[in-house]
Amino acid sequence: MQVIEETRRLQERADRVRGEGRTIGLVPTMGALHEGHLSLVDAARSKADEVWVTIFVNPTQFGPDEDLDRYPRPRDADLRLCRARGVDLVFAPDASFYAGGHETWVDVADLTRPLCGAGRPGHFRGVTTVVTKLFLAAKPHVAVFGEKDFQQLAALRRMARDLNFDVEVVGAPIVREPDGVALSSRNLLLRSDARAQAPALVRSLDVAERLVRDGMRSREEILARVRAELARADLGCVEYAELREPEGLAPAPDLLSGPTLLALAVHFPASAGEGATVRLIDNRVLYATNPSQETPR
Ligand code: PAJ
Repeated sequence: MQVIEETRRLQERADRVRGEGRTIGLVPTMGALHEGHLSLVDAARSKADEVWVTIFVNPTQFGPDEDLDRYPRPRDADLRLCRARGVDLVFAPDASFYAGGHETWVDVADLTRPLCGAGRPGHFRGVTTVVTKLFLAAKPHVAVFGEKDFQQLAALRRMARDLNFDVEVVGAPIVREPDGVALSSRNLLLRSDARAQAPALVRSLDVAERLVRDGMRSREEILARVRAELARADLGCVEYAELREPEGLAPAPDLLSGPTLLALAVHFPASAGEGATVRLIDNRVLYATNPSQETPR
C-alpha cells in the first residue's frame, strides 16, 4: 500500500493509473477509521480496480466552537486498518493541502441550509470545497460516501451533477453497533450513562418505519411519536427531528407520499474532558408508498 502526502504526486499517480485503463474508487475520510469507513472501502472495491482512501481532518468544515483540536488522529492505526482491508493507496496530506490564502469555495445552496446546515453554518461549504479538491487531486472514477451523513451525500451528489464532475457518487448503507447505534468516532466521547441512551435514535427510526408500514401518513403524527420516543432518553437534547424529501431535502408534505427522509440530531453529555456535548445523527428513508403506487407483482 502506497502512502502519498503531496497533491502533485497523487495527480501523477492518478494519470498513470488512468493511462493504463484502470479505474479509481475514492473513499474520502477524516481518519479515526472504524468499520463504517471500512465498509466504504469494500463498496469502492466492488466498483473500481483500485481503492484509494484519503485521510485529512478538514479544518474548513469545523465551526469555531467545534471539536477540530480534539478530533482524533490515530495515523498509524488508520494506515494498518487500510492495509489490512486491501486499500491500494492512502492520500494523507498535511495542513498545507490548503495553500495559504485559500479563497475559493464550492457551495451547494438550498440543499445545505436545513437540518445539519442550520446548526453548523459554513460546515457544508467546507465539505464540498474539500471534496472538490480531493476529486481534482485523485481524479477518481467513483467516490463512495456513507448514508449516515445523508445530507452530505445529497449535497455531494448535487455538486457532482451541477459542476459536471466525471465522478460517480455512490452511497453506502449505515453500519451500526450491536445495539443499533450508528458507528461514529464520536460515540467514544459520550458519558457512559449517555451512551446507554444513544439507541433512542435508532429506536425512533424503527417506530416511524413501523407506523408508516402500518399505513400512517400524517407528518405531524409521525413526528410526535418520534419525539415521544426520543424524549425517553432524558439526557438527550434534540437539535432536530424532521421529515424531508430525500433528494432536494424540501420539507415533506402534510401527508407523506413516496420515499421520505427521517433525519435526527441529538446532543448528549460528553465524558469529562471531551467538551460539553456530543452530537449524534441518524436517519432512515421511509417508504410511504400508497397502495395505488405499488408495483404489481
Ligand atoms: P468522516 O466523518 O471521516 O466520514 C467519512 C465517510 O465515512 C463519510 O462518507 C461518512 O458518511 C462515512 N461513515 C461514517 N460513519 C459511518 C457509518 N456508521 N456507516 C457508514 N458510513 C459511515 O464525512 C467526512 O469524514 C468528511 O465530511 C469528508 C467527506 C471526508 C470531507 O472532509
